[in-house]
Amino acid sequence: MIKKKGQVIRLDTANTTLVIKADTSEYVYYGKKLGNVWDFEAYVTGARKIVSAPGKSAYLDYGVVLENADGGFAADFEYSKSRILAEKPEIAGLPSSYGEGKTLEMKFVDAPTKVALYVYYTVFEDSDVIAVSSKIVNGSKKEIHIHRLMSLQLDLLGEDYKIVTFEGAWARERRRMEREIGGGIFVNDSKRGMSSHTRNPFVMAENGSGVYGFNLVYSGNHKETFEADGSGITRVLIGMNDFMFDWRLQPGEEFSAPEAVMCYAPDEDALSGRMHAFVCEHIVRGKWKKRERPVLVNNWEGTYFDFNEEKLLAIAKAAKEAGVELFVLDDGWFGKRNSDTCSLGDWFDNPEKTGGGLANLAEKIRAMGLMFGIWVEPEMISEDSELYRTHPNFAMKVPGREPERMRHQLMLNMADEKVQNYVVRVISDVISRSGADYVKWDFNRSLTDCYGKGIYPGEYFHRYMLGYYRVVTKIMKKFPFVLFEGCAGGGGRFDLGNLCYFPQYWTSDDTDARERISIQRGTSYGYPQSAMGAHVSASPNHQTGNSNPLETRFHIACGGVLGYELDMTKFTPQEAAQVKEHIAFYKANRKLLQYGDQYRLGEEGTEGYITVSKDKNSAIAVVTLTQIHPSAPLKTVRFKGLNPSAVYEVSQRGKEGAFTASGELLMNGDFPLRDMFDFETVVKNSGCVLSRMYIFKKLKA
Ligand code: DGJ
Repeated sequence: MIKKKGQVIRLDTANTTLVIKADTSEYVYYGKKLGNVWDFEAYVTGARKIVSAPGKSAYLDYGVVLENADGGFAADFEYSKSRILAEKPEIAGLPSSYGEGKTLEMKFVDAPTKVALYVYYTVFEDSDVIAVSSKIVNGSKKEIHIHRLMSLQLDLLGEDYKIVTFEGAWARERRRMEREIGGGIFVNDSKRGMSSHTRNPFVMAENGSGVYGFNLVYSGNHKETFEADGSGITRVLIGMNDFMFDWRLQPGEEFSAPEAVMCYAPDEDALSGRMHAFVCEHIVRGKWKKRERPVLVNNWEGTYFDFNEEKLLAIAKAAKEAGVELFVLDDGWFGKRNSDTCSLGDWFDNPEKTGGGLANLAEKIRAMGLMFGIWVEPEMISEDSELYRTHPNFAMKVPGREPERMRHQLMLNMADEKVQNYVVRVISDVISRSGADYVKWDFNRSLTDCYGKGIYPGEYFHRYMLGYYRVVTKIMKKFPFVLFEGCAGGGGRFDLGNLCYFPQYWTSDDTDARERISIQRGTSYGYPQSAMGAHVSASPNHQTGNSNPLETRFHIACGGVLGYELDMTKFTPQEAAQVKEHIAFYKANRKLLQYGDQYRLGEEGTEGYITVSKDKNSAIAVVTLTQIHPSAPLKTVRFKGLNPSAVYEVSQRGKEGAFTASGELLMNGDFPLRDMFDFETVVKNSGCVLSRMYIFKKLKA
């Protein structure tokens, strides 16, 4: 709800309130929901600014940096007016949240240049999220340059914030990191042209009064700055990275920054719950929104590039017998691609590997009663490809310089409309001719050599993103029933921008259950389990060499959207029977597992999760033990999210018997993980992750 009384504007969600004092352009309050209060005069500090640009005040970093025609950088954005719009405005060319209408528009003007800044706030009451975006309109008579336009500027009271980020690398994504800013400045960012494996744009700032969460609906360079200034304020700037950014804006033109989101909650669990609800309801869209996702088998770790029709059909047959619903053909089916050194861009069939081509193979897979899915990496080009030989100018390269070849590949110049149209055409053809039900869209390197003929260098990174979004928008509009799963060498572009197009995203190329515990746990702070691709893979694991029981691999993969990524023909009869039982269990409980409220459980060494149905009548929990020692001190776990006044019957999957306990006890008592500590279990599983799955059913009152 957005309400205005005089100069006070209140933005209320179900559990939070943001108060803005319009005339002084100040945030007066952001936190727990307030009653019907309007008298905020005594709380005005004169310091918590909505807009900060180089002008009269120069204490903290700026959210807006413009270069005026006179060569100066000064911009004093004074509040001009505000209104409440009935419709949330679209952000031209960029993905954004949807599903709420009412939006507050605030206009600020720099009087000498007549350049205007608009800031938009949309309130998502149901998920306690406020989406914020900014737009510059050049009302002057000359070209101006935008050197920085942050989407969200928020000045918080206090300098004692702990910043929690999700960082890592390829195959080690989104590990939780904590830093006290202690009166200083902290920056989380990406300059790799992608939201990156290194630093995800989801960030939390915490102090004694609660947790603030921030994210950006964008898949390119981003920057989140937290700066304390010594006067009791911490400035938060969330937006596109200003690294090598210089956008020229002609008189009368406008430029919109991507949408940022912010959320306040009393604790991390509540914040994650709100972010999950927001993503499921207001980011993910289309036919697959809130729809149960199929159990898939992907041949990548089962075969890598070494396959033929016979091998693929054998895997599909074994998968079908186990209960799998979707067969995904990964890299290596096109051109002469038998390794990662060639053929990207040549999206034509290799009949030797697919038994006469994609259409034939897809038909045979469908005849088995499976859906068919296909892998593509549309934004890339190999130098050893027909495409490169005929269109070398499609590649992103700086003239006169040797390009950086990551994974032996170059990138397509997606900032160029000709290239975009080409990609739309060829990828649409792959989908049409295979009749694909699912597409895995991969992206295996970051941007370097950013250059395109006729493209102003300071605009390149963002123009690439606009081109990418134009292409995915067009393709997805053409194929509204296809389930698109994003992938970027695993989780390198796992962000809200991509989730607007891809209902699920491959979480990481590291499929080891031990590693996945922290990767999926880190991801879960800002993103729901229905967005996380999670596969059971071979043991020993191909990335780490670790071995883990099939049961553990299944339990961890149930924390996301379950899939299999191994040669299913290699299962022993016992394993095949176990997998069949796993998949049947998953399907029977997938609504709960994919769309229930998921909470993180335990601490390092005993991490797990619990997923609770919306009515709190049922839940499934997984707890793990990552270090097993003889005579180790007993570990315990406290469950979460249950109804404290309900009584539950609790059983351990695969074990006889059950016990009953109240939700109150299950959440406040320390449940002993006794059976993981007996001597025989320890010896049998040495070096592995042990796990247990518990099932909770509410007893009738
Ligand atoms: C990287 C992906 O993350 C993998 O799952 C696989 O699709 C390979 N690329 C194929 O090249």
